[in-house]
Amino acid sequence: MSSERLAGKVAIVTGAASGFGRGIATKFAQEGAKVIVADLSEDAGKQVASELGGVFIRTDVTQKADWEAALALAIKEYGQLDIVVNNAGASYSNKATESVTEKEFDMVMNVNVKSIYLSTQVVVPYLLKENRPGNFIQIASTAGIRPRGGLAWYSASKGAAITATKALASEYGPKQIRFNAVSPVVGVTGMTNLFLGSTDISTFVATVPLGRPSTPADIANACCYLASDEASFITGVNLEVDGGRCV
Ligand SMILES: NC(=O)c1ccc[n+]([C@@H]2O[C@H](COP(=O)([O-])OP(=O)(O)OC[C@H]3O[C@@H](n4cnc5c(N)ncnc54)[C@H](O)[C@@H]3O)[C@@H](O)[C@H]2O)c1
Repeated sequence: MSSERLAGKVAIVTGAASGFGRGIATKFAQEGAKVIVADLSEDAGKQVASELGGVFIRTDVTQKADWEAALALAIKEYGQLDIVVNNAGASYSNKATESVTEKEFDMVMNVNVKSIYLSTQVVVPYLLKENRPGNFIQIASTAGIRPRGGLAWYSASKGAAITATKALASEYGPKQIRFNAVSPVVGVTGMTNLFLGSTDISTFVATVPLGRPSTPADIANACCYLASDEASFITGVNLEVDGGRCV
């Protein structure tokens, strides 16, 4: 028996060209999964895919046709799809909520919430038709549990991701399709500056009991566990990977 924890599984990881998504895709490949790197960013996405022996597809997670293409690619390349990690995310810069534009609001809700809707619209019918167990993991945020001012609609989008995850877990549990969320605390990624308004995370990190930011490896390890058969009886959780921030 393989010691690789995701051997035989095929995963789509969105936003895998950068940050947490890159860490998740890399860990999944190390643990034996075949990985579809799905991202808007072509150069970085292709680079990640070539490093981990996966395939890249340019994907806008807000577009249903792009989800259909990613599922079709998984089936064409690897014959199946087992895991979807909805990691791609978007935010506007931390600012007074009355100055958030309608365009920014729509962008945040589309990338962070509508993407989950579209992933289920496309992938759940495939899993049901094939009678396959499936596994969805949403990268939410501590902002969805313990929001602060300046990021109201980003926080609300992550709250929606967590609630949708629990509702979907309840609905599709009888079909053996699991839905879980992972909530990082602040990390050092492409989005940090948007959240904090600067790259200086020391003030925020002082509020984290374990005293450091989250890393791509922290998030990837949690996702690997939830995606693996070790977590076969776990669905509907929001796993805070936050050094105790939300206590
Ligand atoms: N960095 C943090 O402090 C932090 C904290 C909590 C939660 N998160 C969440 O972690 C997730 C990953 O973010 P990150 O911090 O690694 O940021 P990042 O900017 O490093 O990576 C985000 C990736 O998503 C891709 N992306 C953006 N919009 C997309 C779209 N419409 N379609 C496809 N791909 C798209 C980008 O090209 C990029 O590669 C996000 O959901 C974010 O909200 C981040």
